[in-house]
Amino acid sequence: MHGTIISASILNSDLSDLRGTARKVDESGAEWLHFDVMDGCFVENITFGSSVLHAVKPYSRAFFDVHLMVNDPTRQIQLFAEAGADNITVHAESRCDVRAALREIHRLGLSAGIAVKPHTPASEAIPYIGDADMILVMTVEPGYGGQGFIPDMLPKIRELRKAAPDKDIEVDGGINAETSKLVREAGANVLVAGTYLFRAEDMHKAADSLRGLI
Ligand code: DX5
Ligand code: ZN
Repeated sequence: MHGTIISASILNSDLSDLRGTARKVDESGAEWLHFDVMDGCFVENITFGSSVLHAVKPYSRAFFDVHLMVNDPTRQIQLFAEAGADNITVHAESRCDVRAALREIHRLGLSAGIAVKPHTPASEAIPYIGDADMILVMTVEPGYGGQGFIPDMLPKIRELRKAAPDKDIEVDGGINAETSKLVREAGANVLVAGTYLFRAEDMHKAADSLRGLI
């Protein structure tokens, strides 16, 4: 389990300048770069595929944190691994053999995450804890950045922290200076943030505020 990690989500960054975005994230001190991959089926939105990781990899020092919001992640794992992913997270609600997907991610030598949407209870993630390094608790409905944090997710974070004391617990959606304090107190240690970081005057200060340093 890591200390507090900031995972900058590129979803609401300037997608016309990914090289600049990668540099800004490196300069901000955020350790991870979060890629929200959406297939237009699991969620209505479509974002990007593994070719974007290929394009960004030479310009980033970050750990590539891939969040697959897709119906069948098994078809994507190898592609994203070859493109430079360091972690791949699949949803417990995916239409595939989730355990097999987590084991495939590990077979390829990557960190594996299991994610649950807001309406999915913690009990759906708990059976996979043994096969995962990280549990991602969605704190907004998956699909778009810039949404409001769902405070009802705090008990779920506490429940999963109790069930998985040594694993990383990641939260994703609506994370800012205020909500980051709530989720850290509940037990989350990996904080995904997009809008809050990329709208900030000073991204390094914004990242430090998420850590509770200012
Ligand atoms: C939702 C996405 C967002 C994004 C970060 O599917 O996963 O949560 O990463 O969103 P904001 O902009 O709220 O930090
Ligand atoms: Zn995400």
